[in-house]
Amino acid sequence: MNIIDIKEKLKKALTEKRYNHSISVADEAVRLAELYGYDKNKAYLAGLVHDCAKCIPYSEAVNMGCELDRETLACPGVVHAPVGAYVAEYEYGITDTEILDAIRYHTVARENMTLLDKIIYLADITEPYRDFDGVDKLRKLCNENIDLAFCEALRRSVVFNIEKGNIIHPNTLYAWNEMCIKNKQPREENK
Ligand SMILES: [Fe+2]
Ligand SMILES: [Fe+2]
Repeated sequence: MNIIDIKEKLKKALTEKRYNHSISVADEAVRLAELYGYDKNKAYLAGLVHDCAKCIPYSEAVNMGCELDRETLACPGVVHAPVGAYVAEYEYGITDTEILDAIRYHTVARENMTLLDKIIYLADITEPYRDFDGVDKLRKLCNENIDLAFCEALRRSVVFNIEKGNIIHPNTLYAWNEMCIKNKQPREENK
């Protein structure tokens, strides 16, 4: 399927607001790809399609044949990511596993995030339509250091969900712990 056909299909599958967000994420993903040396076409396609399953009702999404773990099933807001990877493959004809993984992990993240995973995770949160306290700090970090930006985005997500009493998906914790281990020396008393 070419980009024009994908856009036509997305327009039918998404609300206008969600479609505009998708275009915006795709553009921001290209900008980050240029900045950090990743394939711009792949970044654009992943950004464009990342929310392709966002408007599928939960009851339908969980019965499409896509394997979903307990924590994902318990978080309706997260289901569209793994289901999106499934829809992108079987309905949009995308076979590139890097793109499918970036779609699959764009909400909860995972350990060993690839550059494309980080680009889509961050483009989703910082694209120009996004407006929340701290978004400008995140945008600045995105331009300076993608790993620090990812750490900060992940930290915000963990804190937000804990404060709300929400489930933290194990992949989010694996990602967070990995970043902590990479970025911090063990404290003397913990050695
Ligand atoms: Fe999403
Ligand atoms: Fe999104």
